[in-house]
Amino acid sequence: MPLVSMKQLLDLAEREDRAVGAFSVGNMEMVYGAVEAAESMDTPIILQIAEKRLSCSPFALMAPMMISAAKHSKVDIAVHLDHGITLPMVREALNYGFTSVMLDASLRPFEENVAMTKQVVALAKEFGATVEAELGVVGGNEGNGDHRSLCTEPDDAERFAAETGIDALAVAIGNAHGHYPALPALRFDVLEEINSRLSIPLVLHGGTGITPEMFRKAIHRGVRKINIATANFDALAAAAKEYCSGVSEADYFILTKQMRGGIYENVRYYISIFNNR
Ligand code: 13P
Repeated sequence: MPLVSMKQLLDLAEREDRAVGAFSVGNMEMVYGAVEAAESMDTPIILQIAEKRLSCSPFALMAPMMISAAKHSKVDIAVHLDHGITLPMVREALNYGFTSVMLDASLRPFEENVAMTKQVVALAKEFGATVEAELGVVGGNEGNGDHRSLCTEPDDAERFAAETGIDALAVAIGNAHGHYPALPALRFDVLEEINSRLSIPLVLHGGTGITPEMFRKAIHRGVRKINIATANFDALAAAAKEYCSGVSEADYFILTKQMRGGIYENVRYYISIFNNR
């Protein structure tokens, strides 16, 4: 039953100087394709879903499927709530058996972010689950509306980690969710400074559109979890489009296999970079 805690995967990644891919999923083909890709590369992954996506992919369907996929996988998999908005949702994820949770209070004032995150840490402890939190503002929209990036301050990061007791910190270094209008100039100097002051793994959101070289630089500076969402959704849509535009009548069984294949290739691509070999 290789459903494992996210902390376990991030600690192993730290020892092996690589990052774990956290792949956002929204339906069965995405879950299935991501797990097959991880198994084919004998590499652990994180399956995650953001609270914002639950209006399209109901939690009551997604959560048991994600947990079951992890339990039946040949590789270790952690199942994570990405960008939780409310504490009840965090509790619901933990009740489903998620091994990791994030409550994103990054838009709130520092002290409020600390207070809410401490509540999550206390709750997650009852379940033996990992906690990720975010400080600074990652641009784009994965939960709380559209935002411009606001860099994480290293002083704040140090205080935040010490006061909350989180397991992993998502940093804002010019990264953003969704498609970048142009290649972002990530603040590797800030990342390096944060990494030198914190002893916990760092998380990079907004992975879609970042180059392999930039990923490697981030990994070298303590990033152990990298989130990929948009590229996964795009890969599924592109695979469906490619199949459907080539036939006069689409066959559902071929279509579902094509979509799974699109995810499989996409996840393999990112794993090969994140493994950093
Ligand atoms: P992308 O959609 O840019 O890949 O970002 C994913 C993410 O950070 C999810 O939290």
